[in-house]
Amino acid sequence: MKAAVLEAIDAPLRVEELELDEPKSGEVRIRIVACGVCHSDYSYMKGILRMPLPAVPGHEAGGVVEAVGPGVQGFAPGDHVIGVLTPNCGVCDMCRENKPFLCIKMMATMGNGTMLDGTTRLHRGGTHVHHLCGIAAFAEHAVVPAGSLVKIEKDVPLETVCLIGCGVTTGVGAVLNTAQVKPDTTVAVLGCGGVGLSIVQGARIAGARTIIAVDPVAAKRELAQTLGATHAIDPAAGDVAKAVKKITGLGVHYAFEAIGRVDTIALCYAMLRPTGLAVAVGVAPPADEVRLRAGGLLQQKALIGSAYGSAVPSRDIPLYVDLYRRGELKLDQMITHRIALDQVNDAFETMVHGQGARSVIVFG
Ligand SMILES: NC(=O)c1ccc[n+]([C@@H]2O[C@H](COP(=O)([O-])OP(=O)(O)OC[C@H]3O[C@@H](n4cnc5c(N)ncnc54)[C@H](O)[C@@H]3O)[C@@H](O)[C@H]2O)c1
Ligand SMILES: [Zn+2]
Ligand SMILES: [Zn+2]
Repeated sequence: MKAAVLEAIDAPLRVEELELDEPKSGEVRIRIVACGVCHSDYSYMKGILRMPLPAVPGHEAGGVVEAVGPGVQGFAPGDHVIGVLTPNCGVCDMCRENKPFLCIKMMATMGNGTMLDGTTRLHRGGTHVHHLCGIAAFAEHAVVPAGSLVKIEKDVPLETVCLIGCGVTTGVGAVLNTAQVKPDTTVAVLGCGGVGLSIVQGARIAGARTIIAVDPVAAKRELAQTLGATHAIDPAAGDVAKAVKKITGLGVHYAFEAIGRVDTIALCYAMLRPTGLAVAVGVAPPADEVRLRAGGLLQQKALIGSAYGSAVPSRDIPLYVDLYRRGELKLDQMITHRIALDQVNDAFETMVHGQGARSVIVFG
């Protein structure tokens, strides 16, 4: 089968033929129908996030079940599924606390690039090829842990709802689960890519009265305003915290960072009103340090991270599919490019140059 392989940090992906093993115990083989291109894939390509190479990236996937391994329950060939970032092992301390978004076994799929048993199903000749997030969906087929899949109804297009696999669950979940944004509050969103636009939509769904979108790209700000933002700020135009306070008076109740930089995380904290909450959704280089003014603590301002939208995938993904079906989550509008696997490197060019929101690879 064809897959896009990352051979080395800073190298473009190379589309080549790989061998894929049959699913082992607790695993499922799917045909990938579509896969969104997320900034986290790019962070692995640039070495900001690390995993063993060679590896197949791609983790925002929609697909159809082809085969199930021994012991798998609840999936059958033909089922439509969305891939999720957590393998939901069900037995680790975090899963038992109903926090599968921090499943301890996730390290195997993210950091080691393997299945849960520490081995890979992807090979090229005698070489092991690793799987990003246990999904590795920049490929025509994938073998994934059964816990990394959620079954969905067949009436929604996988080419669109694949976005729920990462960006939407991350962004909407950061609003509804992590921050638990209350109605009639004020929200700022820094960065309006696939994740930030999902935060904007989550804030609208939560009933926020003011939603301020911040992005240097005019087209992103305009798109954010069609998806629910009430105001937009170009960060190049001057002091963003001042501009936010001009709109809101005291500052915002909630500020979300969806870029992946420590300076913009600190900026989120700076634009809060007393008792406000800043939420770091973007993934900054892990060793970088966030510097905050100590005075904000006495104003009871808080800063929290958000991992995969604090999602419980079996609960949240069907909810987001339903919000899409009802027209409340506008996903088609977030997809600005549909491309073939061979064009995957162009999607990263598009992303870094700020052209368009989400690119989706659609398999023939
Ligand atoms: N926490 C999680 O579980 C999780 C999950 C998925 C993605 N992420 C992270 O979320 C971040 C966003 O991902 P994405 O796929 O939406 O990325 P993206 O590249 O599509 O979007 C980033 C946006 O930030 C904008 N931007 C750049 N500099 C800015 C600035 N100074 N002020 C305001 N906006 C600015 C860009 O124009 C772009 O629109 C990444 O760091 C990604 O790794 C986190
Ligand atoms: Zn992602
Ligand atoms: Zn677990």
